[in-house]
Amino acid sequence: MILQYDHIDSTNRIAKDLIAEGTPSGTVVRAVSQSMGKGQYGRVFESPKGGLYFSLVLEPDLPLDQLPLITLATGLACLQVLKERFSLFPHIKWPNDIYLAGRKVAGILCENILKPGLDGQTSAAVIIGVGMNVNNQAHDFEEEIQPLITTLFEHLHAWIDLDDLLANLTRAIVNQVTRLREDRLAVLAEWQQADLLWGRSVVYHHHSQSLTGIGLGVTEQGTYRIREENGVEHLVIGGQLRLGPGVDLH
Ligand code: BTN
Repeated sequence: MILQYDHIDSTNRIAKDLIAEGTPSGTVVRAVSQSMGKGQYGRVFESPKGGLYFSLVLEPDLPLDQLPLITLATGLACLQVLKERFSLFPHIKWPNDIYLAGRKVAGILCENILKPGLDGQTSAAVIIGVGMNVNNQAHDFEEEIQPLITTLFEHLHAWIDLDDLLANLTRAIVNQVTRLREDRLAVLAEWQQADLLWGRSVVYHHHSQSLTGIGLGVTEQGTYRIREENGVEHLVIGGQLRLGPGVDLH
């Protein structure tokens, strides 16, 4: 089932309401534009017309501690579609940002809704929210983020059929999430090939603490490894991971 909206606040918000009403796994909510697109860390994800904004509801058959891997599998699905359909080769900034030539082209926000079962087991519905800058251009965005983002149009100089892109992305996401169950390590190994931060100087912020080091890639649990200059290694999850000062992505 695909629900299409013109201008709404957030497809993830609508998906959450639909889950409360018992919507089946596979439901897709899509909007032409959003006024309050939800981004990571409570930020608003700017969603002007021309982009692709959708939320896919899935009830994956995965242990709860593997749910964070769905963000990584979704990133991989985005890369696969951009490569196969448009010969573009983006990277992923752990855990959820897709970068093309040093600028963000898409973001992912997964939200888990836990459902306690009568048998005492808890299952989960996952809202997989994806926002991709497609047929828009940097000047469609607020001035302060213009230098940080890019769009597919800026790379391809051609209009992309958003219905077709949506169909390809949802199919690829379902396949990659299924693959997680069958061969999680293969998914993670492939993800590692696309790691934007690997070997680069990074700064990690969590609450009032920060940590500076070198990015060493993702672990089997989906956490990220950072090595400080003194050799001490840390595994991080949650918080914000940024490129260190002066890192040039071009
Ligand atoms: C990020 O970059 O911080 C994550 C952005 C995720 C945005 C998408 S747009 C479609 C879906 N609905 C939302 O409200 N957010 C996600």
